[in-house]
Amino acid sequence: RKVSKILALTAVSSMLAIGSAFAAPITIKFAHVVAENTPKGQAANKFRDLVAERMGDKVVVEVFPNSQLFGDDTVLEAMALGDVQLAAPSLSKFDRYTKSLQLYDLPFLFNDMAAAERFQQSEVGNELLMSMADKGLIGLGYIHNGLKQISAHKPLRVPEDAKGLKFRIQASNVLAAQFDALGAMPLKKPFSEVFTLLQTKAIDGQENTWSNMYSQKFFEVQPYITESDHGLIDYLVVTSTEFWEGLPEDLRPEIKKALDDGIAFGNDVAAEKENSDKQRIIDSGRSEVITLTPEQRALWVEAMKPVWQKFEEEIGKDLIDAAYAANQ
Ligand code: LMR
Repeated sequence: RKVSKILALTAVSSMLAIGSAFAAPITIKFAHVVAENTPKGQAANKFRDLVAERMGDKVVVEVFPNSQLFGDDTVLEAMALGDVQLAAPSLSKFDRYTKSLQLYDLPFLFNDMAAAERFQQSEVGNELLMSMADKGLIGLGYIHNGLKQISAHKPLRVPEDAKGLKFRIQASNVLAAQFDALGAMPLKKPFSEVFTLLQTKAIDGQENTWSNMYSQKFFEVQPYITESDHGLIDYLVVTSTEFWEGLPEDLRPEIKKALDDGIAFGNDVAAEKENSDKQRIIDSGRSEVITLTPEQRALWVEAMKPVWQKFEEEIGKDLIDAAYAANQ
């Protein structure tokens, strides 16, 4: 009897050993819409590589760039269903979930990326990461891209030049109001469709960062880009509360650390690309970059200003004041 007991115990313990040695690693699918040679693309890949290096036997990150798995219009529903665990839509794409993040779309809110960084790292900026907690979504951090420029098939120097033109925008009511204020026609379209819409002249223009215009080749089908720096494209890395809280206690901080390191890497890429991708576009000779005079710029600020009033109540005046104060 003793022998059979020992045998049974041995069998159980070796099954447990086999079980843990061969336990399938946790898979984290990270879906995004941009190319790999962009700040977000690089942040995601770095995160994947760091996880492989530091805990590859326990966790595997799979990155799906270029809207391969989901577009930003479907990714959050997919997350709720558990079909994807991480995404990083631009801050402009959450207005169905929270009104607070609309803050980031206010035109001419931040003078430069340093101001955006100061605000995001402030207490208030940090609190915004949890603004969708009631919807089961947690923000794990911000990734920078950069300031937006406006491209079109004709030169835009003053706001009147944009009147009557069709512009593709991200799915954001604030951005719709911004183009309404110019007397233009905003159209909410997925990122993956923008190049074709521009190429076929179904739309006249769009607004985006230098790295997105370069990596998506928008500059090849838009002969003019106005250097307006009028808005921000940054990202919120999101996961579902259910997934995040379901992770083993010992792995969660390690995964978060790898993500933070990936984000820091992506942010360095963002800072570098603001200049280098702009220069690549200029060097291509395909698109003329229009520099505004201070007087012309003031006219754009003036024309877009009513958007602030329009959304002040939804966003909250205190929040707007806190963000604006980051300009110092
Ligand atoms: C866009 O839709 O233009 C951007 O949000 C794409 C991105 O993720 O940078």
